[in-house]
Amino acid sequence: MDLDVTDVEQQVSTGVLPGASRIDELVDDAHARYRDLEDGRVADYIPVLAGVDPRLFGLCVAEVGGGLHGAGDAGVEFSVQSISKAFVYALVCEAAGHEGVRDRVGVNNTGLPFNSVMAVELNDGHPMNPMVNAGAIATTALVPGTTPAEQWENVRTGLSRFAGRQLELDGEVYRSESETNARNKAIARLLQSYGRIDVDPLDAVDVYTRQCALRVSAQDLAVMGATLADGGVNPLTGERVVSAQVCRDTLAVLASTGMYERSGEWLFEIGLPAKSGVAGGIVAVAPGKGAIGTFSPPLDPAGNSVRGQRAVAHLSRSLGLNVFASSVHVPERAEPLERQVPLA
Ligand code: DON
Repeated sequence: MDLDVTDVEQQVSTGVLPGASRIDELVDDAHARYRDLEDGRVADYIPVLAGVDPRLFGLCVAEVGGGLHGAGDAGVEFSVQSISKAFVYALVCEAAGHEGVRDRVGVNNTGLPFNSVMAVELNDGHPMNPMVNAGAIATTALVPGTTPAEQWENVRTGLSRFAGRQLELDGEVYRSESETNARNKAIARLLQSYGRIDVDPLDAVDVYTRQCALRVSAQDLAVMGATLADGGVNPLTGERVVSAQVCRDTLAVLASTGMYERSGEWLFEIGLPAKSGVAGGIVAVAPGKGAIGTFSPPLDPAGNSVRGQRAVAHLSRSLGLNVFASSVHVPERAEPLERQVPLA
């Protein structure tokens, strides 16, 4: 599909965020509402993740103006996991161009679990979606660099620029996943067999496994997301990380695929591009306004944090963030919270 609209000026969604003290109240309220929710299960297919404290729960809203509003364990670090896919995708689009990445990796939801081999087979080896493992490994294979070490350094510095601080590898998580990621290695070999990656598939998996093991906090996720909301400029450092067009491309992909098989339901209820990771993080982006970062380890069956989803749903309504809303959100006249439909 070629709509040829790249030279048409795009507008941000309607409305503005409430003032800083009101955002603080709403973030505290969202944290208090879901702190005691005990549904979901901590991921254990990466062995070291199984030992994490399921009660950890952090939230942060970052405004494009640089304001930060945290609650609970917003500063606690955990491995970024699949959320890295969104930011590596943005870096690769910046380096390789919109069309190249679209053609090689795709932009459509597979409708199948994030680690599906069948999705690759059903689509003639095309990964379809940069937010599932096959597409993310194919995307990481496109990161600039002549060696895997150079590619890894580019990933680490690129994601650090999104966060506005130097991100470090969690060696324990990296080793634990490296010892147990036969399935990702099989996916990479399968992509190679279809001619979909040009580098050594095991090298691509290694860089991908490292990117997933970078340590972030909910606050970092909020700042990284706010950089996408801010047309590619980090609201804390003022540094341009990627172009505004790359932000638009990345957010479009997140909207359709970021929450896996639940992406449609997520968009329907919450109306924000978002990405989750199996360590319990979620980032949700409100273009032109800011972003929400959450951390809570227990997951639903699709691999999305249960408390994180609830908290983002709540904040999307109370802060007026839904990108499909066509009327300007007036914070004082927000819909009563009792009328909101919770995400199942
Ligand atoms: O490749 C994997 O399986 C993990 N490193 C990342 C998966 C993930 O975070 C899926 N998210 N919900």
